[in-house]
Amino acid sequence: MCGIIGIVGNASVTDRLIQGLKRLEYRGYDSAGVAVISDGNLLRERAEGKIAALEAKLGSNPIDGPVGIAHTRWATHGVPNETNAHPHFAGRVCIVHNGIIENFLDLRQSLNGRNFRTETDTEVVAHLVDEEMSNGASAKEAFQSTLAKLKGAYAFGMVIDGEDDKLFAARAGSPLAIGIGDGEMYLGSDALALAQLTSDLVYLEEGDWAILTSDGYEIFDRHNNAVERDVTVIVGGPAMADKGGYAHYMLKEIHEQPETVSRTLSNYIDEFRQTPSLPTDIDFAEIDRVILVACGTASFAGEVAKYWFEQVAGLAADVDIASEFRYRKPVLSENSLFIAVSQSGETADTLAALRYCKSHGVKTAALVNVMTSTMAREADIALPTHAGPEIGVASTKAFTSQLTALAALVIKAASDRKTIDSEAVSDHIKALMSVPGLIAQSLQDEPHIQEVAKTLTSAEHAFFLGRGQFVPIAFEGALKLKEISYIHAESYAAGELKHGPIALIEDGTPVVVVAPMDELFEKTLSNAQEVISRGAEIYMVTDKAGQQHAAGAARHILQIPECHNFVSPILTTIPLQLLAYYTAVHLGTDVDQPRNLAKSVTVE
Ligand code: M6R
Repeated sequence: MCGIIGIVGNASVTDRLIQGLKRLEYRGYDSAGVAVISDGNLLRERAEGKIAALEAKLGSNPIDGPVGIAHTRWATHGVPNETNAHPHFAGRVCIVHNGIIENFLDLRQSLNGRNFRTETDTEVVAHLVDEEMSNGASAKEAFQSTLAKLKGAYAFGMVIDGEDDKLFAARAGSPLAIGIGDGEMYLGSDALALAQLTSDLVYLEEGDWAILTSDGYEIFDRHNNAVERDVTVIVGGPAMADKGGYAHYMLKEIHEQPETVSRTLSNYIDEFRQTPSLPTDIDFAEIDRVILVACGTASFAGEVAKYWFEQVAGLAADVDIASEFRYRKPVLSENSLFIAVSQSGETADTLAALRYCKSHGVKTAALVNVMTSTMAREADIALPTHAGPEIGVASTKAFTSQLTALAALVIKAASDRKTIDSEAVSDHIKALMSVPGLIAQSLQDEPHIQEVAKTLTSAEHAFFLGRGQFVPIAFEGALKLKEISYIHAESYAAGELKHGPIALIEDGTPVVVVAPMDELFEKTLSNAQEVISRGAEIYMVTDKAGQQHAAGAARHILQIPECHNFVSPILTTIPLQLLAYYTAVHLGTDVDQPRNLAKSVTVE
C-alpha cells in the first residue's frame, strides 16, 4: 500500500507535495516520486528509498509548477527501484496509484505495440488512458472508459499533458479524499496528507471518480452519474502529525495511552451510572456467537476479547485471522455478531471478511480507529476506538484502545446476558476506569526498561510465553519486538513449549514470560523453570505478588501496578511496548518505519 497526494492550483506545489508525502510515508517507503506540469511540460523526479532521497534529487534537479502529483510506495508488483517508482508515464499521461490492478497482465497483452518500461501493474493504466486519447477520446472519456476495464483495488491521481489545469482521481478499494482549498484543490490518501493544507475534506466513495480544477471539483459515481458527497471537517489539523517533542512517533504514541484509553472509555462507559454506554447499542442477549476477525496486532486484541467474552459474558467467541477467514468458508449463523477489529479500517483482508459476512446476512460491526474508513462506512455498526491518528508503523495506542473498547463490549454483553450482577458490572467498570492512571504509573518504569532492553540487543532469538488471556499479549510482545528490532521472536502458550519449541532454548536465550498473579500463575512459573533449567534468561512481566512468588527465577522483572485481573492484559502490554521500543533504539533501527512494512495493508 502506498500514499498519494495531488494539488491543482496557481502557486508552486513541489514543496507542499513533499511535505504531504512525508506525512504519508508511514504507508510505504520503498521509493517516492513527484510529477508537475510546468508551462505545458510534464516533469518528473523519482528516487529509490525514502522521501529524503527524493528531496536530495530535487535539490540538484528542481522541478515545480502549479499542478502536481506525488507518491510514496510500498512495493507489490515490481522490485522497489527507481524504475518502478511512481508516477508512471505513458504518452501524455502521468499517474500515481495505491492498490493492485489484478487484471494488469491481460490488459498489457491487449495493448500490443506499447512500450512498457516498468514491472508495475500501474503503468498499464497510464497506457490505457493514453491509448484511448490517441484514438480520439477526450481525457474525461478516456479516464472513464479505462476505469471500466480495471479489476482490483485503486486510488489514482492523474495529470495529463494538454489538460494542464486538471487533476483526475478515482477510488475503488483504496481510500482517497479531495481537499477543498481557497483557489486550489487537493487529493490525498488520508486526512494526514492534507493536514497542513485544508481541514475540509470530501471522501470519495467506492467506484467514485472525479475531476479537480483550481476552483472546484466534479464527482461521478460508478455509473458515471454526477454526485454530491458530504464535506467532512477534520479537527486536529497539523498537530495530528507531529512528534510532540518525542524521538519517534511510536514513543509519543506509547506515552499518549493514558489519554487515549481515557478517551475510549468516555465513549464506551457511563461513569456516572456505572454502566457500559456503547456508541451504538448492541443487545447481546440476542446474540449467540461473536466472530472477531482482524490481522496482526488487532487480531491479538480479538484473542484477548475471546477470553473475556467467554469467561465474563458466557458468550461463544471465535477469532480468525482475516486472510484465512473467508477462504475456509466458515459456518455462519444469523444470530452471530461479526466484529472487524482494525486500526486503519482499510486492511484488505479484514474488509473482505466483513463483506463476506454481510453478504451472508450476518450483522457486522467495525471497531476502527479511522471513522472515515471503508470498514466504518460499510459495517452495520461502526465502533470508533478514539485513539487518534497512529503514525508509528508498530501499533501501540490503537491496540490498548481496541482492548478498552472490547472490554466495554464484554461488560455490556455480560450485563445483557445476566452472567454477572450489577455489583460485578460496577466492579469491572471500576477496574476499566482505573486503567489510564495505571498506564501512567507503568510508564514511570521507562528508565528501567530502557536499561533492561540493552541486554536484548545481542540476542538473535527471543521467546514470549503466557497463559490464558496473556497468550495474545505474549504474541503482541513478540510481534512488537520482531517488527521494529528485527530480532527473531516467537510466542507460545506457555504449556506448549515442551511439545517441541523447547529444543531451541540454549544458554542465554531470552524468554519473556507474561504472568501477573492469577490462578494460572504457578503453572506458568513451572514452564519458566523448565526453560531456566535449560539455560534461558527470564524477563518476567508481572505484578508485585507475582514478583514475590517468582523469587529469583527471573533475571529481569518488568513490574506492572496492582490491578483487577480483568484489565491486566492492557497493563502488561505497556512494558512490552517499551521493551521492544528501546531494544530497537539501542540497535539503531528505523523505529517508525521498519523495513518491509507499511502501516495499513490494503492488498491481499
Ligand atoms: O489497520 P489494521 O489494524 O487492520 O492493521 C492490522 C495489522 O496490519 C497491524 O496491526 C500490524 O500488525 C501492525 N504493524 C502491528 O504493529
